[in-house]
Amino acid sequence: MSVRISPSILSADFANLERDLGRISDADLVHVDVMDGHFVPNLTLGLPVVERLQQVSPVPLDVHLMVEDADRWAPRYAELGAFSVTFSVEAAADPVATARAIRSNGARASVALKPGTDVEPYLQSLDEWDMILVMTVEPGFGGQSFMPETMPKLARARDAVRASGLDVWLEVDGGIGLDTIVTAVENGADTVVAGSAVYGGEPAERIAALRAAAATVALSS
Ligand code: DX5
Ligand code: ZN
Repeated sequence: MSVRISPSILSADFANLERDLGRISDADLVHVDVMDGHFVPNLTLGLPVVERLQQVSPVPLDVHLMVEDADRWAPRYAELGAFSVTFSVEAAADPVATARAIRSNGARASVALKPGTDVEPYLQSLDEWDMILVMTVEPGFGGQSFMPETMPKLARARDAVRASGLDVWLEVDGGIGLDTIVTAVENGADTVVAGSAVYGGEPAERIAALRAAAATVALSS
């Protein structure tokens, strides 16, 4: 299986989002970072903008919520047609109920873990998640450095998913480039977010280069 690439439009031109979506039409997904200025010290966009992105995007939406009261907001993004909705477990009172609400609204349900959050409790209920997002930076901003200390957690999740036989995707987000994608894939990532690494250059070329780097792992393992 080849690794899925999900460019983050946090690094796109916010005055030209439709144009910049068009530039990543050969990606697998598009990663949309929703930040509320409370859960993280940054504010991006919300439901009305994501609804329009959903209507014009050439690839399915991989929505990443970094908002307080995730239980309330996550199902709304599923309702508008997002392919996948990830919420921060630290912001959810009842992650299982929220994941079920996302699924019942037709989207894949996913939980994100900050670098300091233990994955173990979420491995006890693997069948409730379609994806686990292991944050490889502290959430809030693009262009930060990859935190290699998150890799044992990713590898632990990979082992648990393999043992379960379930099809739970494992995503990484933050500081991904040509070197760190290799590290992440070696530790079990099958879905990779990249913001500055894609939009910092010619997006189609950057996506192809990330795919090629990820494929070197697939070939050697
Ligand atoms: C950070 C966001 C990321 C961000 C990644 O909180 O969740 O999706 O866009 O940006 P890069 O790839 O530049 O680290
Ligand atoms: Zn993100």
